[in-house]
Amino acid sequence: MQITLETKPYASLETDALVTPVFEGDDPIQGRAAELDQLTGGLLKKLATGGELTGKTLEFTLIHAPAGLKAARLLLVGAGKKDQFNVATLRKVVGAALRSLKAKSVKNFAFLAGGALPPEDGSQAIVEGLLAGDFETDKYKTDKKDKKIEFVALVGFPEAETAAIQKGMARGRIIAESQNFTRDLVNEPSNKLTPRVLAEKAQAMAKEAGLAIEIFDEKKIADLKMGALLSVAQGSAEPPRFIVVTYTPSNPKPGAPVIGLVGKAVTFDTGGVSIKPADGMEKMKYDMAGGATMLGVMRALAALKPNVKVIGVVPATENMVGGKAQKPGDIQTAMSGKTIEVLNTDAEGRLILADAVHYAKQLGATHLVDAATLTGAIVVALANVNVGVFGSDQVWTDKLLASAKATGEKMWQLPMDDEYREFIKGSFADIQNIGSGKGGGSITGAWFIREFAGDTPWIHLDIAGTAWNDDAKPWLAKGPTGVALRTLVHLVQTF
Ligand code: BES
Ligand code: ZN
Ligand code: ZN
Repeated sequence: MQITLETKPYASLETDALVTPVFEGDDPIQGRAAELDQLTGGLLKKLATGGELTGKTLEFTLIHAPAGLKAARLLLVGAGKKDQFNVATLRKVVGAALRSLKAKSVKNFAFLAGGALPPEDGSQAIVEGLLAGDFETDKYKTDKKDKKIEFVALVGFPEAETAAIQKGMARGRIIAESQNFTRDLVNEPSNKLTPRVLAEKAQAMAKEAGLAIEIFDEKKIADLKMGALLSVAQGSAEPPRFIVVTYTPSNPKPGAPVIGLVGKAVTFDTGGVSIKPADGMEKMKYDMAGGATMLGVMRALAALKPNVKVIGVVPATENMVGGKAQKPGDIQTAMSGKTIEVLNTDAEGRLILADAVHYAKQLGATHLVDAATLTGAIVVALANVNVGVFGSDQVWTDKLLASAKATGEKMWQLPMDDEYREFIKGSFADIQNIGSGKGGGSITGAWFIREFAGDTPWIHLDIAGTAWNDDAKPWLAKGPTGVALRTLVHLVQTF
């Protein structure tokens, strides 16, 4: 999809559709809506008076052959109250407009900015909304509908702001394409995306982006004594892989901080011997979303070139049942030397993250973030609305929460009191991989990982509820969301 900045007056623009947001209020005919009302000879006022045009979020009003405009259609999209309008709403408005026009076989349109946000942020959000909205999960359908938006023009921006707008547009494309790269990986079924295939795709991405990459096979993983990762992998016919992607800025300062981004990549989670129920198990192909997110972040950083070193660490394995699978009660020794009693083989994400977090520290990470589809309990706590955030260092955690706010990704911090740590004290080993039956499942999962982060400032993002859309949204296809990528890119860029 081509996206360009158009400086021609929008009334004379020949396009399949002119799209603009309308804000909710006592009188929705303000700003752009007032201009369009004038151009169309009072049409918008009439619609507003009749109650058909209110500006309520994602209300759609489609007008064919609007008088006074060269556009074939005028699409007014409700954007809610102007004082609550932000980049997140703008992305939704734009994405929903694209998806609705695409469904109508429209090939091109122009988006008329309302001027409610700073031009650079606004143009970035528009491009992000367009590209994320355009992503489809129909890769394996043989009767793909031939519907495609080929061209979108951004119109109505002040000409004096052209440089800033183009900067925002370029950044928006990098971030959205990286988010779609992540979503594409998450969308792959486990027979098409094994740990080996994920490693190959990471390698191809790194080569194209100009990032350094190392991939460890099962032998190297064993040499490194990553016993926790190996314990999960041992039940599978598919060997594990351990992926390390590194971004180094052009003038790295000695002693400067290094960010370690660790992502869980279980390409399929059956639960292992503590097997999951059949109902809904097919969704466990998305249990590699954390790893895919970190690879997407690295891809974006390669193009955005922040001034800090970042290491992406992705342990990849299946969690299978079989004659070689680990069993409840087995005791494993992690790379760090800590012993783990595996009371439930379905709590495998924390096991592979234990070794990955330890390894990231060995590589010199001074600040850690992990992302993982870690617990069903986070869906109970926060549903599919907020990412669960856990942190060992409030200054570092606050930075991430600020980035989440700036990028419009909903995240909510949960407590990590020492009392919860007691839940995972081991009876027969140093620690056990599930809490001893007192609830707080997401917190005990986080505490388990934290044991391996030690004193290094660390954040854990539980994306089990938010990495997958069970139902299509007007602005986003059903399936992988690519959540947390924007926040993490922002966090690194503002470090
Ligand atoms: N991959 C699952 C968590 C999950 C659940 C992701 C739902 C996405 C949607 C994880 O490996 C798991 O099975 N966790 C267990 C932990 C329990 C055994 C302590 C869970 O949440 O049930
Ligand atoms: Zn599991
Ligand atoms: Zn899992």
